[in-house]
Amino acid sequence: MSHWLITGAAGFIGANFVRLAAGGAGARLVVLDALTYAGNLENISDLIGDGKVDFHRGDICDEKFVTDLFARYRFDRVVHFAAESHVDRSILGAGPFIRTNIHGTAVLLDAARASWKARTGNHLFLHVSTDEVFGSLQPDEAPFTEDSPYRPNSPYSASKAAADHLVRAWHHTHGLPTIISNCSNNYGPWQFPEKLIPLMILNAFDGRELPVYGDGRQVRDWLHVEDHCRALLAMLEGGRAGRTYVVGGACERANIDIVQRIAVEVDALLGRPAGASAKLLRHVADRPGHDRRYAMNAAVLQAELGWRPRHDLESALPAVVRWYRENREWADRIRSGAYLDYYEKQYGARA
Ligand code: NAD
Ligand code: DAU
Repeated sequence: MSHWLITGAAGFIGANFVRLAAGGAGARLVVLDALTYAGNLENISDLIGDGKVDFHRGDICDEKFVTDLFARYRFDRVVHFAAESHVDRSILGAGPFIRTNIHGTAVLLDAARASWKARTGNHLFLHVSTDEVFGSLQPDEAPFTEDSPYRPNSPYSASKAAADHLVRAWHHTHGLPTIISNCSNNYGPWQFPEKLIPLMILNAFDGRELPVYGDGRQVRDWLHVEDHCRALLAMLEGGRAGRTYVVGGACERANIDIVQRIAVEVDALLGRPAGASAKLLRHVADRPGHDRRYAMNAAVLQAELGWRPRHDLESALPAVVRWYRENREWADRIRSGAYLDYYEKQYGARA
């Protein structure tokens, strides 16, 4: 049986990915997560309980832990999500980003290389990266493609760019079968509420301010997380080693428009008078070095692997807002910090 290692699967996209893969990939899913502040084992606790995934708490920078895991399971696929992922935090301090995103990726690449040297299986190392490595687009520029030059602007995107370069180098120098996926902004269930969409939804529910950075005219290309995960599964199935694939929703929206739309959805869901939540909107100081626009052209992925997004933001957003309402206790446990005790309650002392 095929064994897949999925790093960072207690986070937002990793959790959505294991849910999708557990439903049909036909592989044994082994999940590794350090459970940093962004890792929440509740996101996948039902899958662990049902025996659909094996969970191991550990750090991708820990060479012995990673090597032992490779020896134990003999993975043929690695899907690498684990990262420090929040741009604002990378501005406050880059250390954890450099450690996890760069060094941690190198540790995984070396473990895969050592483990796969002697075998001729159907191996693949899928590195999950971001559109932010390409920098910021002017309003009239064409969306990014696989050939766009690297121009990262934030400590986060610089650390992801460095990781992409390591993946490329391990393929070129050592022949490691790798794919790099560069995806745009995701939205959907289980997203940590420091990111724009869940933060605005939860603040609007509570009648708290909706803080929009600067003029709010910054543009992001939004993709439902399930569509991102389906793109990754398509790469695992039919992608070619050594390739990069660009993934995006062809759904460019200004932040201010997203926030206003969320306010309308929250009013409708909670039965508030029209315009009530929009009054919570506040323009606050801009993010330093804030990228103005991202957009992706996923034509290669569409042509080679037949991938198409199934969700569009306009019709998906009401369901996402409802999800955060129906999972209010999940969000409350994050906001109160109670989620940090979940692992100890389930498994006893910290590993
Ligand atoms: P997230 O912050 O929600 O989850 C990251 C997970 O990685 C957490 O569970 C955390 O505990 C784990 N982790 C962090 N450091 C670790 C370490 N040293 N060892 C083991 N586990 C560790 O992030 P996300 O939004 O789910 O993003 C997942 C990946 O996708 C990241 O690599 C990110 O760069 C990339 N990405 C995200 C988006 C997006 O819109 N969120 C878009 C494109 C690409
Ligand atoms: O583009 C892909 C990237 O998308 C991923 O690689 C990152 O991991 C992910 O965090 C995300 O980065 P962004 O910086 O685009 O996401 P964030 O949700 O932090 O912000 C989205 C936009 O909204 C951005 O222009 C900043 C703005 N913003 C964000 C917050 C949290 C606000 O105006 N107010 C806020 O309070």
